Amino acid sequence: MGKSDAPGPWASRPADRPRDELPKISVIGGTGRMGVHLCAAWAEAGYTVTMCSRSKGKAQEIVNELLAGKGYQRRVTGLNAGQGDYCVPPCDAKDWRLKAGDNGTAAEADLIVLGTMYEKAWPILEEIAPIIRGKGKKILDMTNPFMARPDGFGAGLPKEGPQAGILIHKSRLDDPTCQWVGAYKHVLWTLILPTGPKNPGRPDIEVFGDPGAVSDVVELIYRHGWRPIVRGALEVAPDYEGGKISFGKLWHNIRKECMQGEKLSVGW
Ligand SMILES: NC(=O)c1ccc[n+]([C@@H]2O[C@H](COP(=O)([O-])OP(=O)(O)OC[C@H]3O[C@@H](n4cnc5c(N)ncnc54)[C@H](OP(=O)(O)O)[C@@H]3O)[C@@H](O)[C@H]2O)c1
Repeated sequence: MGKSDAPGPWASRPADRPRDELPKISVIGGTGRMGVHLCAAWAEAGYTVTMCSRSKGKAQEIVNELLAGKGYQRRVTGLNAGQGDYCVPPCDAKDWRLKAGDNGTAAEADLIVLGTMYEKAWPILEEIAPIIRGKGKKILDMTNPFMARPDGFGAGLPKEGPQAGILIHKSRLDDPTCQWVGAYKHVLWTLILPTGPKNPGRPDIEVFGDPGAVSDVVELIYRHGWRPIVRGALEVAPDYEGGKISFGKLWHNIRKECMQGEKLSVGW
């Protein structure tokens, strides 16, 4: 029995399947810190991935570097400087199915990833909503409305209404055929390498949401070398979005680590 198949809180590992059967992924805001690292990791894991951007040219330049096997290094400048730099190490990408697109291209994928800051995700999703509604898409929301950032984003949600960004996105899209999943919300981008976690001793990622979308993301997480822990359906979302820290939550996590061996990957 492999380590990630051990009894415990981890979702079961699905049977391996050919890459042509895997969902096609698009990442809105794919040129960002999370986006670039995850696009590389998912392409390495066999997925067909589109790195989407407001500017296809910007995404294309990054994709070209990655496909040339050079990795991708870039200094983060501006208000977010000092929070870490893009650092995808050089790797053999000859089998990668990675391409660039604009954010509108995201509508073509089976699994659409929201990878901008929370405040900017809905306006982009709203533009493609008429194309995707009724098509049974899956949406992976990794945005964190509560993660305060130096550039002013992450200010939280209005006090009235659901206290989870994913619930607000779901109600705005208002598409009963769409399945929603939250994941990667606590995984720092500097820890995501194409070959798995940079900190292999802390490989766990929390997942919650609609069952079909959760099962695709569980498979995705295993395929790129991490371990998924499923926390529940969408109702649990307010407890698992990043940035809301309390003593109770920290204590709960410490207990789960001591009792069940969870190794959540947060900032270290
Ligand atoms: N950073 C982390 O470690 C981390 C961890 C877990 C979850 N998250 C969540 O993941 C999301 C992305 O975080 P990140 O740090 O990767 O973000 P980021 O690097 O600051 O930006 C992501 C992308 O958003 C797009 N963007 C920037 N300004 C925009 C605007 N005004 N309108 C529309 N799109 C805009 C940009 O893509 P284009 O210029 O190419 O359009 C940018 O590359 C956030 O919601 C964050 O809370 C982050």
